[in-house]
Amino acid sequence: MEIQENVSLKPYNTFGIDVSTRFLVPITTLDDIRHAISHPQLQRHERLILGGGSNVLFTKGWDGITLLNELQDIQIISETDDAVLIKAASGENWHKLVMFCVERGYGGIENLSLIPGTVGAAPMQNIGAYGVEIKDVLQSVEFYDFGKKEVITFTNEQCEFGYRESIFKKELKGKVFILSIIIKLNKKPVFNTSYGAISQTLEEMGAAPSIKSISDAVIHIRQSKLPDPEVLGNAGSFFKNPEIPTEEYLRLKEKYPDMPGYKVTDTITKVPAGWLIEQLGWKGKTVGHTGNHAQQALVIVNYGDATGKEIYAHAMNVINSVKDTFNIQLTPEVNIV
Ligand code: FAD
Ligand code: EPU
Repeated sequence: MEIQENVSLKPYNTFGIDVSTRFLVPITTLDDIRHAISHPQLQRHERLILGGGSNVLFTKGWDGITLLNELQDIQIISETDDAVLIKAASGENWHKLVMFCVERGYGGIENLSLIPGTVGAAPMQNIGAYGVEIKDVLQSVEFYDFGKKEVITFTNEQCEFGYRESIFKKELKGKVFILSIIIKLNKKPVFNTSYGAISQTLEEMGAAPSIKSISDAVIHIRQSKLPDPEVLGNAGSFFKNPEIPTEEYLRLKEKYPDMPGYKVTDTITKVPAGWLIEQLGWKGKTVGHTGNHAQQALVIVNYGDATGKEIYAHAMNVINSVKDTFNIQLTPEVNIV
């Protein structure tokens, strides 16, 4: 196990925030985790797990250990004529796993193409895009419990998945290291093209729905509106889309007839935060070294030298202005450190 001291985290977070961690420990085996938490120099320090750093905002340096997840392995563990079970180690790149499945004709995660980050962070916030969430294919999650010092497996139900939520973001936050996931994919897939932009893009491409064409369409849509973190620092959607009582939504719709809303349950409606933020003039606006992206108001970007504090302060201004005008409370999707 290699221990590095006083390391800049800039290369390890997609916002490109330049803060340091006291210790950085690359994790390539389960034993590395065990050693890191019992190591005399490290054991009393607070731990942070980092995958691709594409859903964190560092507002300060990390005066503890950063466990950098590099666990690698993708295996087909069983297969029938209809389905396949795949086990993937948590440090694998998520999009690499999607491509592994798309190339072999295994359906179920093609709508989740090009989401940055690692496999292990995917269950953390139940990643989702274009009508699919990881919970739709996830069989189980294996993790190391720091307190119990043992490896535990949770079923899909035990993960308590919700919209951008799971038990790992709540009760188990900071207490476990996700080691691997098992997903069940379909060899005779049912395609999900319910998201309007997908069918429209397929039409423009002149392609019939298939695992490969849907993946290509999703990649195309994402590249056309989401900023590439290699070019412009960001962490995707900064806020979750708020879910409000439908009664309240209908009241607001009288005042703002164009306000979009999507039915979640009979009594709850989801409102796109990007629309609320755009109405208030934040879209494409630069504030110091930060601001809201010109193609996607929900994405806050780093124009170069922003500090995490500056980005956080901007996000709070956006939250306050949405609250003042619409009386809707936005909450960050990004993990604030
Ligand atoms: P990190 O940022 O490294 O970590 C995120 C959180 O998970 C942290 O709290 C960390 O401590 C914890 N964590 C990470 N790994 C583990 C582990 N092994 N065990 C326990 N805890 C862990 N998300 C979506 O859902 N849908 C999208 O469409 C989407 N689009 C995006 C587009 C862009 C351009 C960007 C930059 C981000 C986007 N995201 C999206 C957000 C992000 O890609 C996902 O949240 C992704 O799963 C984060 O993976 P990561 O490895 O980078 O996580
Ligand atoms: N909208 C605007 N202005 C904007 C952006 C959006 O008015 O600048 C409105 C439009 O009405 C649009 C609607 O919001 O039709 C939805 O926009 P979009 O399809 O871009 O999706 P989103 O709700 O902004 C969510 C996820 C994304 C995911 C996409 C596609 C959340 C918080 N975000 O964004 O996930 O890729 O749907 O499924 O749920 C992420 O989590 O980081 C992320 C990028």
